[in-house]
Amino acid sequence: MKALLLALCLPALLLPAAGAAPAIIPLPISLQEQPGAFAWNASTPITVAPGAAEAASLLRDYFGGLVGPEKTRAPIVFEAAPTLPEEAYELEVTPQGIVLRAASHAGWANAIQTLRQLLPPARIAHPAAGGPLALPCVVIHDAPRSHWRGLMLDCSRHFFTADEVKQVIDTMALHKLNVFHWHLTDNNGWRLEIRKYPRLTSVGAWRGDDPAERVGDFYTQDEVREVVAYAAKRNVTIVPEIEMPGHGMALLTAYPELANGKGPFRVTSELFIGAADTLDVSNPKVYAFLDDVFAETAALFPNGYLHIGGDEVDQRPWQNNPRVQAWMKEKGVPDLDHVQPAFTARILALAQARGRRVICWYNGRAAPMPGAIQMYYNNHPEVLAKLLQAGDDVVLCPDYPLYFDLAYADNSTDKVYAYEPIPEGITPEQARHILGYEAAIWTEHLYTLANIEAQTYPRGCAMAEVFWSPPAARHLDDFHARLKVHLERLKALGISVHKRGSDI
Ligand code: ACM
Repeated sequence: MKALLLALCLPALLLPAAGAAPAIIPLPISLQEQPGAFAWNASTPITVAPGAAEAASLLRDYFGGLVGPEKTRAPIVFEAAPTLPEEAYELEVTPQGIVLRAASHAGWANAIQTLRQLLPPARIAHPAAGGPLALPCVVIHDAPRSHWRGLMLDCSRHFFTADEVKQVIDTMALHKLNVFHWHLTDNNGWRLEIRKYPRLTSVGAWRGDDPAERVGDFYTQDEVREVVAYAAKRNVTIVPEIEMPGHGMALLTAYPELANGKGPFRVTSELFIGAADTLDVSNPKVYAFLDDVFAETAALFPNGYLHIGGDEVDQRPWQNNPRVQAWMKEKGVPDLDHVQPAFTARILALAQARGRRVICWYNGRAAPMPGAIQMYYNNHPEVLAKLLQAGDDVVLCPDYPLYFDLAYADNSTDKVYAYEPIPEGITPEQARHILGYEAAIWTEHLYTLANIEAQTYPRGCAMAEVFWSPPAARHLDDFHARLKVHLERLKALGISVHKRGSDI
């Protein structure tokens, strides 16, 4: 009898944590454990539905030699389920094999990330190495709460190579984060190659007065295309940010003829600089220049959004510029407060003509830019309510708790987990105008990929669950228990994790 019991239990003993539900982050809508396991020990053939070739390739990227040749009937199946919503997936593991069901690439990519988390944590980096493998049998139905689950990275204050950016994106994908907001220009460096204006990168990407101490770099258009494709394969879309009319010392150093003032300008090494000078909003060349920049940017980033920054603009230099004063009279701009909106209205028209929807930073103090998506970066429910009542589309990126350059002492993992982005009193109709949510990583004091990762994780795990899972399903103790296992995954993948944030 004992021997029989032992034999019956044997498959269970091979599971990563016998008896415990698989520790998936973010938590799926529904996960049913089933008896048994799938022994995935050798190259196993796959069946690939039309439209799933990219997903099959992603499975190969992650599972290496465990994924065998394509066959019409095979134990691992990518199945088309056209009635499933965008990004939703179903994942079934049985003793006979694995079925990944979705309507499109996004859903299959999400299913693959969940499948990775069914592995024993230590095996996630190299599943094909290390002996017999048993995946627990499960039936999972899952779909995201929000389709905009973002992370912003500032690559101007400090530059991160295209390969490092890919690593950031791959770790996002593990957590089913799907929007990488790429802050590409600022006072401390212009990072995007624009072929029509080579000085943007030959001059604007470099800082330091002493030639021996010059630092900088930029992304070539070929590198950007590579990063965009790498991200798309992982169901991550990229929103580029080109800051204007302020935060532009790198731009003005490269092309001082576009500046409001006389300069001199230099790409500054002072990382905490406030706004200095701005673009000359009265100069037609500024609009022609930006239109050219938009054309090249739009060709590189296919997703239809363009973030134009717009935060922290010092309006005072416009007051001392007779050209801008004359332009204000001519355009009927009544005062300094209306200069930036008049500028941005023209930018919106240019970007729209290139098929882009514009996103602007919004802090709740000035009037929101009509027609733009407001990226609201403070956290006052009454300001959000006002935006939504006015019918503005909004992406929420609240500094507290989602600026991840800030200390864990301020924005702790548990605070992030407790964050509920839709405050009470918001109607379902108004909530439809909340397009999604992001965290931001400004890099004034973050130098390395390891810095960025540790500032992001583990609180990014909590964020991923806030953005993905139904709010009623969130329970802190349960999250902590799953996070404990998940931290082993991050360790196996070589991802740096902040000790303060993992104090569980
Ligand atoms: C911002 O924090 N200035 C967007």
